[in-house]
Amino acid sequence: MICSLPRPRRVILTHRAFAWTNLARWVVFGVVMFALSPAGRAEAVPTPPVMPLPAEWSYRAGRLAFTPAFTVAMTGHDDARLQASIDGLLQRWNERTGLVLRRGPATAAALLIECGAPGPEIPQLGEDESYTLEVDASRAVLRAPTSTGGLRGLATLQQLLQSDADGWQLPAIQIRDHPRFAWRGLLVDVSRHWMPIEVIKRELDGMALVKLNVLHLHLTDNQGFRVESKRYPRLQEFGSDGHYYTQDQIRAIVVYAAARGIRVVPEFDIPGHTTSWLVGYPELAAAPGPYAIERHWGVFDPVMDPTNKALYRLLDGFLGEMTGLFPDPYLHIGGDEVNGVQWNNNARIQQFIREHGLKDNAGLQAYFSRRVLAIVAKHGRKMVGWDEILTPGLPTDAVIHSWRGPESLARAAQQGYAGILSNGYYIDLIHPAAEHYRVDPLPADTPLTSAEQRRVLGGEGTMWAEWVTPETVDSRIWPRMAAIAERLWSPQPVAAVDDMYRRLAVVSRRLDEAGMRHEAYLDPMLHRLAGDDATPAEILALRAVVDVIEPVKGYHRGDFQPETTQASPLTGLADCARPDSPVALDFIRRIDQFLFTPGEHDPAAAAALARQLTAWHTAAQDLVQNLAPRSPRVREIAPLLLGLADTCGVGEEALQAVADRRPCSDEWRREKLATLTQAGQPRAAVEFMIVPPLRRLVCAAAAGAQRAALTPEAWRQMIEQVAAVPSDKGT
Ligand code: ACM
Repeated sequence: MICSLPRPRRVILTHRAFAWTNLARWVVFGVVMFALSPAGRAEAVPTPPVMPLPAEWSYRAGRLAFTPAFTVAMTGHDDARLQASIDGLLQRWNERTGLVLRRGPATAAALLIECGAPGPEIPQLGEDESYTLEVDASRAVLRAPTSTGGLRGLATLQQLLQSDADGWQLPAIQIRDHPRFAWRGLLVDVSRHWMPIEVIKRELDGMALVKLNVLHLHLTDNQGFRVESKRYPRLQEFGSDGHYYTQDQIRAIVVYAAARGIRVVPEFDIPGHTTSWLVGYPELAAAPGPYAIERHWGVFDPVMDPTNKALYRLLDGFLGEMTGLFPDPYLHIGGDEVNGVQWNNNARIQQFIREHGLKDNAGLQAYFSRRVLAIVAKHGRKMVGWDEILTPGLPTDAVIHSWRGPESLARAAQQGYAGILSNGYYIDLIHPAAEHYRVDPLPADTPLTSAEQRRVLGGEGTMWAEWVTPETVDSRIWPRMAAIAERLWSPQPVAAVDDMYRRLAVVSRRLDEAGMRHEAYLDPMLHRLAGDDATPAEILALRAVVDVIEPVKGYHRGDFQPETTQASPLTGLADCARPDSPVALDFIRRIDQFLFTPGEHDPAAAAALARQLTAWHTAAQDLVQNLAPRSPRVREIAPLLLGLADTCGVGEEALQAVADRRPCSDEWRREKLATLTQAGQPRAAVEFMIVPPLRRLVCAAAAGAQRAALTPEAWRQMIEQVAAVPSDKGT
């Protein structure tokens, strides 16, 4: 895809140590790219199966076949991080191909990697991440001005290796790639549920594969203080249950991330979200203690007292200590969700507000933010904070992290602040990848001027950890985070959702190879849930059930499981379930194809769909009849399994009616929709992904007689409209 977006600031051809200043090559390349622009590109050319999709790419004729003689070499700049990354690539390729690929001399290398210079030792915002890749039938050449671009190109290569009947190969392709946004992050909340260092390293491996470059560690919150302070040890001693990163571990995380071209931005969320600080230092609070680590989820009253001079002394000492651990120029101070209860109830604080002309609690928080910004600046860092820190008078070197909406990001940019978008990228809310993918920090119709647009640095997916543990966290991050990574890296016109899902299925396997646990988590969890008596066939049946459900979305999980605390095991069916189940997505796609493809309904498709529904129906019934009596936890979910069986039953009946062209009455439709509403309602904090497509199927069965008289588009619109009626009373 050609894009007219600004190029990276560094001009790749002028780099000192770059040996290949062959301008003609790029003139030709540019002409070819232009010819293959979206206007000129044949519809049929599939996008390469990589995420994020490169900024510019074009296939050539042929392929580079992998044989045992395939060797890899480096020329130009060489450093440890490139070497390690090449080793990683070869290991993955070897594991995939079964070959033993080796290093060799540059002259004979099938893959030549040529970097111009080292990237910064500690990755920097806005550094050059560009690279080019040229693959033809004889060799692949990866070139980059810096080793950071080299890492990005190696990530592309890792994904690009494919197999078919003729063996393993790289397609012949020319790629010229660079990121659209400089800040492409993943926030991991390690406070609500503790995430040991192995988890963090794993996620960094996944991030590197999809070219994310910021790990935002949400290190402190009401439920845990997760970093060692040597100056104020009561913070972790009283606030963490012993679960915190030692300073050596933090240094190890920073080094591990830097080796992958990833910055680490720490967040210390203040002045609210601070119960865990106040356990060891109750005198910093706006209300007398004692305090205990919060074990529930929500927004709570404990808050720091911004009128307390000792607070700023501690913050100065603590943040100064942290800047010794975290080299990134940006430091996140949170600032979100102060509910004001403790400030309202404290007469001295209210008097301070009056005396200092601060007007109200928001004014007090603005006062606090300004003082903290001065401390952060004193330690040579730029302050980042959530939307709430944006109050009149805030110096414009603060960075606004927007979680409440894209409007606040735009407003911040208009007022002169740099900003990052996370609203729309809350992966903890279990929304489909498609929804996140549609969210653009700078949509095509942005009202921002080009100067304002440059202030939009990028975005971050947020893995808030109320409902995840180290066991399940990958299934919430991956593969959906790859869709967000693409939104932040690839040109703005790269937006086709179906194509994204096609490539997401491939990158999901690559992420699995790279050690992510978003597939591997499931079997052990199902065995544990099923209990000791379950047979292999019953485990398979349970897996089939998990394929059609997903955890309830948004903030609703707590409605189903209000007793949950930090101590509750997250090992139930809702934890086994994952967003965007590939099997369910495929079923939904096939139902819609069956219903909305113009012409006669395809009887083979109907039969395949019916077989699928019957398989789920049978699995659910068998589990209730045979496993539930022997398994305490399956017994608990029997009502849900019965609901699934009834839901599938409706689908089977409707499918038969459509396939037989048997007319169904409005009364039949109403009855079946009511059954779907009743049987398919969310239970045990999970919902059935197949209910909406089955509603369409039922409505299509009832409206079959009208199909011939309508255009395909009108038919689709009518069915979608009727099926979406929430009350089941629609006609
Ligand atoms: C937030 O979600 N409160 C930043």
